[in-house]
Amino acid sequence: MQDLKQYIEDNKDRFLEELFGLIRIPSISSKPEHKDDMYKCAEQWKQLLLDGGADKAVIMETEGNPVVYGEKILDPSYQTVLVYAHYDVQPAEPLELWKSPPFEPEVRDGKIYARGADDDKGQGFMHTKAFEYLVKTNQLKCNVKFLIEGEEEVGSPSLPKFCEDNKELLKSDVILVSDTGMIAPDVPTITTGLRGLCFWEVEVTGPNRDLHSGLFGGAVANPINVLAKMITQMVDENGSITVPGFYDDVIKVSDDERAMMAKAPFSEEEYKKALDVEELAGEKGYSTNERTGIRPSFDICGIWGGYTGEGAKTVLPSEAYAKISSRLVPDQDHLKIADLFSKHFESIAPKSVKVKVKHLHGGQAYGCPIDLPAYQAAEKACEEVYGARPVPVRSGGSIPIISTFEQILGVKSVLMGFGLEADAIHSPNENFPLEQFFNGINTIPYFYKYFSEMEK
Ligand code: BES
Ligand code: MN
Ligand code: MN
Repeated sequence: MQDLKQYIEDNKDRFLEELFGLIRIPSISSKPEHKDDMYKCAEQWKQLLLDGGADKAVIMETEGNPVVYGEKILDPSYQTVLVYAHYDVQPAEPLELWKSPPFEPEVRDGKIYARGADDDKGQGFMHTKAFEYLVKTNQLKCNVKFLIEGEEEVGSPSLPKFCEDNKELLKSDVILVSDTGMIAPDVPTITTGLRGLCFWEVEVTGPNRDLHSGLFGGAVANPINVLAKMITQMVDENGSITVPGFYDDVIKVSDDERAMMAKAPFSEEEYKKALDVEELAGEKGYSTNERTGIRPSFDICGIWGGYTGEGAKTVLPSEAYAKISSRLVPDQDHLKIADLFSKHFESIAPKSVKVKVKHLHGGQAYGCPIDLPAYQAAEKACEEVYGARPVPVRSGGSIPIISTFEQILGVKSVLMGFGLEADAIHSPNENFPLEQFFNGINTIPYFYKYFSEMEK
């Protein structure tokens, strides 16, 4: 593929303009007022696939946001790669912290700044260009299918049913995904694990109305005080989660693998510096990478109630709320954990309040064995471009649909992502370095090359 670098060089301005077109559509899946943008974005994706050389690309309805499906089938006896990506993005708030407007992409210091620049428009888009190159230069030797969804950032609620209903259409030998990251720009990385997820909202109700905190304070339970106390009991002084049965199904990682993980380049000092924290915190007995890679976690994502406006209001609130997430690892079952937490949390509630736990969504963790042929094709592809064997990394993030693909379609995914921790995905000033973007487009075609050469 000697002309690949040249192809990228000759077309790079067009690539960026096309990506910017995708980014300019604020396809925020969590906000109903952006419903039209979801369709606009799906339409644009469909066009990208057709322009890239797909024989067919269609927008397919689901119970939620539409899915874009495209394909180029060369020969049924060839390997088939299914590319998965998501066209939806997270909300951009807080807007005032952005240096340039989130949906007006801009290149500064060699990075594309915009919501979705990395997650997952920038990364998903790389695949359309790698595909375009292979088709235009007649080097594609396998079948390619694209499945681009619009609900990943809200837990992919409609995709499991879509997969059940379209098993034949989605039939493939491997799923290729760029929605994860690398350790550093010069350290090729393939993600071998994703954490699972459980998400709840809890409601604590005390007196039937907000009360005067002087007349009633000290005599009536304050739901915020109670909620805060209940929450702090969920994790003990060793950083262990206290929900009974929580760790029952956690797979113990062997000492050998832990020793291998410890070899991945990582500087705790730089990590702390990048986050502006003096000290790290987590489960006793585990390193930082183990805490995010092979151990579950428990976090309050939001907490509210009472008076939070300007100035003071002496109120004893009637209600308190929290949004809670827990990251899971193999072989924890997200539904079992959802239930264990709900029962436990309700059981420790004092009689002075009423506690309700609502389970919002969740998903299983995922693991990719490094002896999977498609993993090895990804390894060779990275080696080709970066000149070094990629490091297998278990990521702390989640893409719940990846394990669902395995369950419903029976197909493994290879997670070859090009994001960096500094890309600030989900945060203000999300960005994607041009170098990562072009290296991604440069690497993906080699995956196809090596995977096509493998025996079916
Ligand atoms: N692309 C991310 C997940 C990710 C990022 C994994 C970097 C590994 C490295 C994905 O879009 C995401 O944000 N997932 C959510 C899932 C949730 C909304 C169901 C997450 O992890 O919070
Ligand atoms: Mn993503
Ligand atoms: Mn995301």
